[in-house]
Amino acid sequence: MPITAVIGVHWGDEGKGKVIDYLVEKGYDAVARFNGGPNAGHTIYPNGQKVVLHVVPSGISYPHVTNIIGNGVALDPQLLLGELTDVRNAGADLLNLYISDRCKVITPYHKEAEKQSPINRKIGTTGKGMGSVYSSHTARITPLLSDFLRSHEHVTALLRELDEELGVSEKLRAEGHDALDASKIADDYRRMIDQFSNNVTDTTYKISNMLRAGSKIIAEGAQASLLDKDHGTYPFVTSSNSFAGGISPGLGVPPNTITETVGVMKAGYITRVGGGPFPTELGNEATLKEEEAAIKANGKIKRDSTYFRDLESAAKKGYLLPKEMGQYLRIVGDEFGSTTKRPRRTGWPDLVATQYSDMLNGFTCLALTKLDVTDFVPEIPVCTGYKKDGQVFKNFDPMYLGDYTADSGLIIPGWMKDTSEIKEFEHLPEEARRLVEFWERIAPVRLISNGPGRGQTIFRE
Ligand code: GDP
Ligand code: IMO
Ligand code: MG
Repeated sequence: MPITAVIGVHWGDEGKGKVIDYLVEKGYDAVARFNGGPNAGHTIYPNGQKVVLHVVPSGISYPHVTNIIGNGVALDPQLLLGELTDVRNAGADLLNLYISDRCKVITPYHKEAEKQSPINRKIGTTGKGMGSVYSSHTARITPLLSDFLRSHEHVTALLRELDEELGVSEKLRAEGHDALDASKIADDYRRMIDQFSNNVTDTTYKISNMLRAGSKIIAEGAQASLLDKDHGTYPFVTSSNSFAGGISPGLGVPPNTITETVGVMKAGYITRVGGGPFPTELGNEATLKEEEAAIKANGKIKRDSTYFRDLESAAKKGYLLPKEMGQYLRIVGDEFGSTTKRPRRTGWPDLVATQYSDMLNGFTCLALTKLDVTDFVPEIPVCTGYKKDGQVFKNFDPMYLGDYTADSGLIIPGWMKDTSEIKEFEHLPEEARRLVEFWERIAPVRLISNGPGRGQTIFRE
């Protein structure tokens, strides 16, 4: 009764959606999301059409695959309805979608509480109410999906309790605004939830029955290991357990049902969105802000612009400053948030962080993505230690990571060739194969992604 976990190795957006959409065809019966909520954005290209999924699992385009949103997920019914429309428009049917009756429900109280809290701005959250919905769940005051299928009085009473505990309306009134209306919210939410209530079920039994019947299930991770609330770069983390350890509580399965753990990471660089330490970052907060302002004024830089062509030609010669290389990777990798559209911070690969992530997850194999993005980078410096006060450290210290700088102990030569159409590992340029083999010190590399499309994938049996 095997579960294959698919987990982000670093700070998210590694291409988990693409990898799962591809892997499903290797004989899986179900995909189950176990954590996070609409803060996630997982991109798939069924029939060549781009779909960004937030809580719907990445196996949704396959009619024969069961897709499960587990109890560990937090749902915003309004956003879910929009997502279901997108999924239907992309040709997927929703008959094989099962939503746990114990999903946490993000209410206007949670969203308002997040807006009122300054810490969320410091962290640079996605603004979807994640911190508030999960902390209220731990405090036992977040209503669950099944609560909304009970009487109006039941829901209204829970929402009033939540309001009182979070102090949301009190604060609104103090600032001269109207309080939130629990009765109206209960009605509105019931109306929205009724539209997908046929998909709501006890997914814990559903998964258990599937496992007993010998089904093969992918557990889909959202966010990633270094954003985990317990083991990530706290407080610059998300509010759920986003490494493989979150699967058991997030789906209600015994830990020993997880027999494989696939770590998904970008082959030649790393990204991070929002605040927090990032030792190998190219550029910094100020340079990213400058770039963000320029995008606001003039739009995103296009690949066919003179500016990009100059940047590309200097990149090929190795003439770029770190912040320019950061911008180059951002443009070539289209590193702009799938959920918030924010530019993602970019940096060189980090072996210490990758080994730490492996220590947490026990990866049985890796999926390397975005190999094509570094096709024309002359060399890839890899961080092999962290420097502080003249000393080099080999441990990842999540609490004090900001005090260290990267020690680029290893330079992997680039290959300076387009790899995006290559279908076989043996046909990759030698230097690209060396990069892949370098990561095999962590775990065997089973999948290499060299473009966003399903067909741009090299699978190694
Ligand atoms: P996730 O959150 O881990 O599922 O990743 P996202 O979907 O947020 O971000 C990954 C982005 O990279 C998406 O736009 C994907 O379409 C794209 N992508 C995935 N794999 C590749 C690849 O190998 N090459 C390129 N160029 N893009 C990729
Ligand atoms: P996927 O699944 C990248 C980041 C936010 C912020 C921090 C906390 O697409 O990889 P939150 O809204 O969760 O309270 O924000 O976590 N973050 C992500 N970064 N990918 C994600 O998801 C993320 N989900 C949250 O940017 O720094
Ligand atoms: Mg994403």
